[in-house]
Amino acid sequence: MPMFSSTSFLFIVFLLLLCGYTLHKVRLVHILLHEVRDHALHEPAGLYRQLEALQGLYAELHLGKSLPGTRGWAASPDFLLELARHAQAARPQVVVECSSGTSTLVLARSMQLNGGGMVYSLEHDQDYATHTRRELERHGLTAWARVLDAPLQPQQFGEETWPWYALDRLRAALPPGQGIDMLAIDGPPQATRKLARYPAGPALFPLLAPGAAVFLDDARRPDEQHMLALWRTEFPELKQSTRPCEKGCALLQRA
Ligand SMILES: C[S@@+](CC[C@H](N)C(=O)[O-])C[C@H]1O[C@@H](n2cnc3c(N)ncnc32)[C@H](O)[C@@H]1O
Repeated sequence: MPMFSSTSFLFIVFLLLLCGYTLHKVRLVHILLHEVRDHALHEPAGLYRQLEALQGLYAELHLGKSLPGTRGWAASPDFLLELARHAQAARPQVVVECSSGTSTLVLARSMQLNGGGMVYSLEHDQDYATHTRRELERHGLTAWARVLDAPLQPQQFGEETWPWYALDRLRAALPPGQGIDMLAIDGPPQATRKLARYPAGPALFPLLAPGAAVFLDDARRPDEQHMLALWRTEFPELKQSTRPCEKGCALLQRA
């Protein structure tokens, strides 16, 4: 039986390692190609869906002026359309939202078309509050929404502390004896803390009127899924469902 020299043996080991490494790389490229293909197939369909929703917003709200951008930080057109449709169908009188922006304009315009109702928008960032107030003015909607300065302050919920909206201005602004008919949750930003938006539950759900609806944006994110699970246990009277939106939209309704 021929004997391998140690050099030949090392050479064969090297070749085997090289083959293994090459196969591993080929597999990664294969997976990447599939991901790129899926992305290329789905991305245009997703964008088309957002354009349809945006066009729906302009048509259903009869907007004469352009909305601020609806990509990145802002709520997406499909979520905004869900808000507008609910606001026009249910005709809520008291609407509260966590974080201001394009959603404030959409909700305020819905109040104007309904001929009644008021939006109370909690905003932690003073510059951004000014920006939203200017947009409300530009759209002639100042009578239908109030942007409330609500800095994020340490607050205790259960055993833990969250930086969450100061509610003194909201408490002073809400009409006495009336519950919240519609609540939109799109803030504070995720970076403020893990489960950043959880306090909306313990702080605001007890103020909901019978039949109220809560819309949660970004509901696809693991953090929001975790929050929804907590709220399911803590607020079993709120029936949870989902609406088809790109970033996820959870709807919670009081019977
Ligand atoms: C998810 S955004 C809120 C979006 C809002 N609901 C809308 O529809 O436009 C949450 C917070 O991010 C801040 N924010 C919004 N746009 C921003 C931007 N372009 N850059 C930095 N912060 C922004 C604001 O303070 C806002 O309250």
